[in-house]
Amino acid sequence: MILIVVCILFQIIGSNLVESVSEASGRNISEDKRLNFTELARKYGFSAEEIEVETEDGYLITVFHIPGNKKPVLVVHGMGGSSNSWLLRGKKSLVVELAKEGYDVWCGNVRGNKYGKRHVSLDPDKDNKFWDFSWHEIGLYDWRAMIDRVLKETKESKLNAIGHSQAVTSLLVLLSTKPEYNDKVNLNIALAPVAYFNNIGPGLTEMIKVGPIIFNFLDYLGINELFSENSIEKNLLKLLCTEGFITDAFCREVMYYWFGNDADGIEPDFFRIIIEQHPAGVSKKTLRHFNQVALSGSFAQFDYGVEKNKFIYGTSEPPAYNLSKVTAKMALMYGENDLVATPSNVERLARSLPNVVYVKAVEKKEWTHTDFTWSREIDKYLLGHITRLLRKYV
Ligand SMILES: *[C@@H]1O[C@H](CO)[C@@H](O)[C@H](O)[C@H]1NC(C)=O
Ligand SMILES: *[C@@H]1O[C@H](CO)[C@@H](O)[C@H](O)[C@H]1NC(C)=O
Ligand SMILES: *[C@@H]1O[C@H](CO)[C@@H](O)[C@H](O)[C@H]1NC(C)=O
Repeated sequence: MILIVVCILFQIIGSNLVESVSEASGRNISEDKRLNFTELARKYGFSAEEIEVETEDGYLITVFHIPGNKKPVLVVHGMGGSSNSWLLRGKKSLVVELAKEGYDVWCGNVRGNKYGKRHVSLDPDKDNKFWDFSWHEIGLYDWRAMIDRVLKETKESKLNAIGHSQAVTSLLVLLSTKPEYNDKVNLNIALAPVAYFNNIGPGLTEMIKVGPIIFNFLDYLGINELFSENSIEKNLLKLLCTEGFITDAFCREVMYYWFGNDADGIEPDFFRIIIEQHPAGVSKKTLRHFNQVALSGSFAQFDYGVEKNKFIYGTSEPPAYNLSKVTAKMALMYGENDLVATPSNVERLARSLPNVVYVKAVEKKEWTHTDFTWSREIDKYLLGHITRLLRKYV
């Protein structure tokens, strides 16, 4: 929150201090911080194809494909992330593991991030309409287009999906609002799934409370996009979290306070790579939708206010997503120390879904939200569960 406020101040002053200081600090940006998905894949032993997918509403997103002989697995990142997250742990990354096992791996991206910032007619830098989306549209359009494209390319009738955090939120949107898609996905492995979003950690709870004020202020400033490459807030984040910079430890503490602390899962060096690659761009409406769901405790569509809700939905409250329509197989994994997808929220989600085949907490007590993609111990605690699930159900 402090970060966002500071960012806004910077944006107002229009200062270029950030850029100059980060240059002056002369940090050594080691290779992985800058590589794109294809380059990371090559570095760790696999060649990837880049496929452009067009959604029904005209967004153009890049999906990466590492071909294999086994069934297709589509892997999708969480909020503000990108496909690169799944490769940052090098040879022990999830994507490398799946490719080694012989699966046909597809790595998705969603609108608004660095691989999804294009549209057939809208200009993301000029048209506010481009940013008029939340995880609702990510589910309804991006997931849908990616699933259809993978099935078309592979000539399969079903694929398997692995999602982290918001990827699960948005997949649940698709499977509950377009139930016919339940026939197109065989097994869904949901890592730190977010649907119900009340009962979260103290850091996020504080942010959520002041959320509406912040969003109104951003509206006033006309800001719809946050944390894109080269944005002031992204550069500021990089600066504040620079190793050796005065705020370095503080920056990590803030992360731990918001998302959960597993200090030996993510070492300071690696933290620098994350900050460079993540966040990779997010819309204000995405954050606002999460904020609404956190405040209401209901997994519901976007709340536009009574009048507009009546016009759009025919009811004064936004309708809840009907999770009983999610009939595809769901395997849920969560961290006991996750302050975002908290155990109580995941258990509530499990009770709301009709076809849960697996619910499991990672065996390490300190396991937290970001560990699912970034922990240095994913090989020890996570990958085995995933490959066993795939062997059993695929
Ligand atoms: C920066 O990192 C790279 C690779 O990690 C290394 O080869 C290089 O020597 C480093 N440069 C400096 C100035 O430390
Ligand atoms: C990734 O980098 C390679 C150059 O190494 C480039 O050819 C390719 O277009 C890049 N892909 C994306 C999606 O940025
Ligand atoms: C939710 O979906 C189930 C299964 O299709 C249906 O029986 C139920 O009536 C729906 N609930 C609501 C509130 O629409």
